[in-house]
Amino acid sequence: MNFLGRDIISMNDLTREEINYILSRVPEVQNHPNKASLCNDKVSAMLFFEPSTRTRTSFEVAMRNLGGKIGGFYDANITSTVKEESLWDTVKMHDGYGFDVIVIRHPLKGAARVAAEAADIPVINAGDGPNQHPTQTLLDLYSIRETQGRLDGISIAMVGDLVNGRTVHSLTEALLKYENCRLIFISPRDLAMPRSIIDKCARASIDRGVTFVEAGRIEDHIGQVDVLYMTRIQMERLQERALAEKFRSIYRLEASMLSDAKPNMKIMHPLPRVTEIAQDVDETQYAYYFQQAKNGLLVRETLLALILGAIT
Ligand code: NCD
Repeated sequence: MNFLGRDIISMNDLTREEINYILSRVPEVQNHPNKASLCNDKVSAMLFFEPSTRTRTSFEVAMRNLGGKIGGFYDANITSTVKEESLWDTVKMHDGYGFDVIVIRHPLKGAARVAAEAADIPVINAGDGPNQHPTQTLLDLYSIRETQGRLDGISIAMVGDLVNGRTVHSLTEALLKYENCRLIFISPRDLAMPRSIIDKCARASIDRGVTFVEAGRIEDHIGQVDVLYMTRIQMERLQERALAEKFRSIYRLEASMLSDAKPNMKIMHPLPRVTEIAQDVDETQYAYYFQQAKNGLLVRETLLALILGAIT
């Protein structure tokens, strides 16, 4: 399998075998005797048109840990975007400045795909609006496999803003490549999983034994799942202010709600959390979100090493 120069735009572009391959290479990068110089002469362009904490920092640290360098911007307001330069031209410029890979985050669905068309160098989608966030999904899958020992047959509840949350879109599409998963989508009706993804779930139920259900309350499902995947309400993507306010604090997981949980159940969250996980949950055996975020560094190091040809 060869990832040299490969764009990572959507989980739909990766086969199950390719996903497994990427995850299986993590130990090699971590234990590599020359880890600190694997990407010695490489430079990553960070084009961040949207705020980010974990994705940005872990990509930066990953690149530095492999001996690479970083350029680009984290605030589009200080770039020529404010002079109405197009995304296409902005990407073209970075393509021509000797960078080896572009990591892009943008508020518009499809922006990473446009960037990949504009650039000759590989492009990694670090989140395009409400659409996809494939590297988050790779670290989510890594975290699920680390804690549950498998990806087939996983029972997972995804909770929150399922219409606007890109992490749950990517994660669902990835899990549909595995056998016999059970997916429980918990949201208010107005924030339900998009129909296009529900249709894919229906197809996977025939092809791969996937089962899925749409529900409204967390309490009814905690005892059944291996993974409780919490997400925040995406306030910045909700056009209607009244709707945003109505749902702002609709879900709140507290330690007292976890008495029926399976012993090895893990609570995951792409972070940032707002009010959907109370702080008393952090002290329970179920909380995994901070470790999950740390896993992001390992997975992003591995992905960069593969795409930049430092390992095969
Ligand atoms: C997520 C994102 O940006 O989509 N954060 C992340 O990358 N870890 C989740 C979110 O913003 O809600």
